[in-house]
Amino acid sequence: MAAGEDPGQRATAQRGTVGFGLVRGDLLDKELKLLFSRKEIAETVARMAREISVDYADKKLVLVGVLKGAFVFLADLARELTIPATIEFVRIASYGANKESCGKITVTKDVEISLEGKDVLIIEDIVDTGLSLQFLIEHLRAHHPASLRLCALVDKKARREVEIKVDYTGFAMADGFIVGYGIDFNEHYRALPEIFVVD
Ligand code: IMP
Ligand code: MG
Repeated sequence: MAAGEDPGQRATAQRGTVGFGLVRGDLLDKELKLLFSRKEIAETVARMAREISVDYADKKLVLVGVLKGAFVFLADLARELTIPATIEFVRIASYGANKESCGKITVTKDVEISLEGKDVLIIEDIVDTGLSLQFLIEHLRAHHPASLRLCALVDKKARREVEIKVDYTGFAMADGFIVGYGIDFNEHYRALPEIFVVD
């Protein structure tokens, strides 16, 4: 590597994420367009962590990450916090590909500690229709936390079908399907360090 070269950029170039979809298989005809750079993401995550660190000082903060999409975001956010926090994960699955499937959401991996009396902050990658979050909020409320709020990296507000209050938002976007930074398309692209729109 040449002196002064950014190792991150080099890794990105090696993966060839600048330009075209790379994962061989069903996505060769897809083009990835850079939406949020590493720098924009890092600044946004740091800003969110500052807000959370102020609001949750002296609280019993539990970050509940929603698998799998939020794993990278949660890892970065947690390391920017200046207050203690414990970390849990949940995974939810919705069956069927259409909107009528909203009644078929289940928890496939639950939290492993009691949330009673804790200050729970859900960490989600994207809030889209809001249906899965609505279900998850109900589910976590049954644990009787002292407080329950939502932190999402990306808010697609225009696509909302149920009212969901996002307490901490990273980026707002209107529409479009995104990948990278933990977020997938058919399990591809999660490891990309930036966020791209799939064309
Ligand atoms: P909702 O129940 O419609 O709000 O679904 C939100 C979930 O759908 C997110 O947590 C993502 O897992 C997934 N999702 C929504 N939009 C996108 C996208 O643009 N790319 C990848 N996954 C998405
Ligand atoms: Mg998700």
